[in-house]
Amino acid sequence: MKLPTQAKVWHNGELVEWRDAQVHVATHALHYATSVFEGLRGYATAHGGTTGRGTAIVQLDAHVKRLLDSCRISELPLRWDFAQVREAVLATVRANGFKSCYIRPLVFRGCGALGVDPSNSPVEMSVIVIEHGAHFGPEAYARGIAMCVSSWRRMAPDTLPTMAKAAANYLNSMHILLEARGNGFDDGIALDHEGYLSEGSGANLFVVARGKLFTPSLGSSILEGVTRGCVLTLAREFGLEVLETRIPREMLYVADEVFVTGTAAEVTPVRSIDRKPIGAGARGPLTERLQQAYLAIVRGEVADRHGWLTLV
Ligand SMILES: Cc1ncc(COP(=O)(O)O)c(C=O)c1O
Repeated sequence: MKLPTQAKVWHNGELVEWRDAQVHVATHALHYATSVFEGLRGYATAHGGTTGRGTAIVQLDAHVKRLLDSCRISELPLRWDFAQVREAVLATVRANGFKSCYIRPLVFRGCGALGVDPSNSPVEMSVIVIEHGAHFGPEAYARGIAMCVSSWRRMAPDTLPTMAKAAANYLNSMHILLEARGNGFDDGIALDHEGYLSEGSGANLFVVARGKLFTPSLGSSILEGVTRGCVLTLAREFGLEVLETRIPREMLYVADEVFVTGTAAEVTPVRSIDRKPIGAGARGPLTERLQQAYLAIVRGEVADRHGWLTLV
C-alpha cells in the first residue's frame, strides 16, 4: 500500500498536512509498542452520499468499537469518545476525497517519559487515509493464494492479548509473513500455542469440510475480524452450518475449500497449503458465493441488507 505525499491527516483533533503529522523519537510507542490501531475500507459505491462520490465505509461502528476495546485492553485511556472517533474517521475521508480507500486510525502513547510505565506519556490519536485497490492483487480473487503453515505460532493467551489490534502483535505477523514470502508462499497460517489453527498474518481463516464451515474460535489466539463476522452472517443466511471451534491442522489437508478474510484481504480463496492443493486447487464454489455476496454489498451493487455501510 503506497503512501501519499499529499494528504490530510487527523492528528489529535486537527486535520494537518501529511508532512506535518510527525512524532518525536522519544515517543513511548516506538520503544514499547504501546499502540493500537484499526484498518477500515471505503469503497466507491453506486450509492449517493454527501460527497457525490458515493464512498461508503464498511462496518464503521464495529471498527470504532474494536478500537475502543483495544484501548481498554491495552491501558490507553482515550480522550475521544465513540461518536468523536467515528466523526474523526469520516472527517479524514471527506478531507481526502479518495474514492476507494484504506483508513488507519491509530492510538498511541506519545512523548512524555522514557521507561516502561506509560502513565506520564500522553495518549494520542491520528487517522490516516490512503487510496487502495486489491490487497493480494486482482488475480488472487479467482485463482486463490498459496499458503504454508508457519513455524511461528500465535501468542499464547497469557502473553499478549490477541483480541486487541495491538502493534505489538504485528511483530509476530511480520515474522509469519516474511518467512512465508521467503519460502515462495503468499502468506503463512499460524497455529495457536497448543498447535490448533489460528489465523494468517493479517486475515482470519475459514475451512469448508463435510458440508460445514469451520473457523477458529476466539480461544485460538485470533483477532476477532470484522470481515469474519460479515462472512459468518452471510454463511448463516445461506443456511450453512457454521462452527467457531478448535480446528486441528490436518483439517486443512482434507478440506474442500479454504479461504481467508480481512478488511484488506476481503474474501480470498486459498489454492494450496504447504504445496498441497486444496480441493481442485482453485477457488471453490462456496468461497466464490461468499466472496461475491460480500463484495456485492460493500461495493454497493446490491442493497445493504445488514446495515454494514456508512455513506461518507
Ligand atoms: C491478525 C489479523 N487477523 C485478522 C484480521 C482480519 O480482521 P478484519 O476483518 O477486522 O480486518 C486482521 C486484519 O486486520 C489481522 O491483522
